[in-house]
Amino acid sequence: MTKQKKSSTRKKTAPAGSKSWGGRFGESTDPDAQAFTASIGFDIRLYPYDIRVSTAHARMLAAQKIISARDSTRIVRALKEISSELDEGSFVPSVADEDIHMAIERRLVEKIGAVGARLHAGRSRNDQVVTDVRLFVKDAIAGLSDAIAGLQAGLRQVAKNNQGAIMPGYTHLQRAQPVLLGHHLLAYHDMLERDSARLADCLERVDVLPLGSGALAGSTLPLKPRLVAAELGFKRVATNSIDAVSDRDFIIEFLSATAIMFSHLGRLATEITLWASSEFGFVGLHDSFSTGSSMMPQKKNPDIAELVRGKSGRIYGNLVALLTVVKGLPLAYNSDMQEDKEALFDSADTAERSLRIMTALLQSLSFDTKAMREAASDGMLLATDLAEYLVARGLPFREAHEVTGRVVADCLERGVDLASLSRDELKPYSSVIADDITDVFDPDKSVARRKAGPGTAGSNVARRLRTLDR
Ligand code: ARG
Repeated sequence: MTKQKKSSTRKKTAPAGSKSWGGRFGESTDPDAQAFTASIGFDIRLYPYDIRVSTAHARMLAAQKIISARDSTRIVRALKEISSELDEGSFVPSVADEDIHMAIERRLVEKIGAVGARLHAGRSRNDQVVTDVRLFVKDAIAGLSDAIAGLQAGLRQVAKNNQGAIMPGYTHLQRAQPVLLGHHLLAYHDMLERDSARLADCLERVDVLPLGSGALAGSTLPLKPRLVAAELGFKRVATNSIDAVSDRDFIIEFLSATAIMFSHLGRLATEITLWASSEFGFVGLHDSFSTGSSMMPQKKNPDIAELVRGKSGRIYGNLVALLTVVKGLPLAYNSDMQEDKEALFDSADTAERSLRIMTALLQSLSFDTKAMREAASDGMLLATDLAEYLVARGLPFREAHEVTGRVVADCLERGVDLASLSRDELKPYSSVIADDITDVFDPDKSVARRKAGPGTAGSNVARRLRTLDR
């Protein structure tokens, strides 16, 4: 191991006096300390928000006569230029800038000198950063909501393309009862609807402007947060400066809504991988949405579904990471909170990409409705129908269950399918069994009978699709 050099002999960074907070510092920052504390590597992507926030702040400062209208105009114009410079890559912040807020301010002062130095009046990076992040989360929610709607549209389309397709519904991964493929897919539609509603609900609490809180206690200057909120499109303004700069629960809510959504995406992903297996053979994967094996030439793998499922690891991890970061932090701002961003960005990116690729994957699947129907045609899946037939004719359910159990046991003993029994073979089991008993063993009729409430009947699925299309 190389011996650590004494800090006094190490390479120095730019003099601390050149930093916006450098006034009280005699020594410059240690390069490792600078690299370790800097967030510019990841918060650079907040620059469009930071520019908007600073623009709105500058205009408010002028409206409140804290700076002149002329200075405000110059600041706003320079901010616009900096935004273009960042877009084009002609201005590249360095690690010495620490974070995106200081980078933009540094460039502003470089461009317009003392006028630029007026911008930071009445605010701190503490209220600035959380304002930027709130704008980011608002956009992320809009993006995710749109991607969710896209996947939902995909589910509806596949349901419509396969109307009348019957598959076995499962419990315990054992074939249970016949259901419509459309009904099964619309189950995911309902899950995603709740995911979307959770994000919309989260948005209510994200949509609050923290600016005006300063470092933690507010400002002695006559600020007017309402003006800034109106310009930035925030619904409300914060009511407590200490909370406003230290609250990250809006991000936790976002990460939690995303995590719950991944518990749904993971289930859909698993079903696709199962359905694509030779054991099920319910779907064929399109070449363009699957990959092969480097060793086994025959393989075609459902990687996209597997990876979406696998990404729940980081999505859940990000939620736990932020919960852990904020746990036990004293009020108000602490540098720990800088750790919120990578988790947030990663979840926002991963979630939107996963939703979009799942939509494309779903649309690329070819459903083998014949194989599905065949898997659902085991008469044993209609044992419950027989029991309900008996109930409809007056038997108490427990007695009907027992009678049906006897029929099933006899079938198993004889090695025949329930649906193959004739009227005459069935009648001795109960006096209520009549000639219409054979209808019970038709899977299409079985599905069509399940009209009550949220059942799988085609009429229900069609109605639901009509409602959802409205
Ligand atoms: N880069 C910081 C963050 O991401 C900005 C706020 C820093 N404030 C401070 N006083 N160090 O949270």
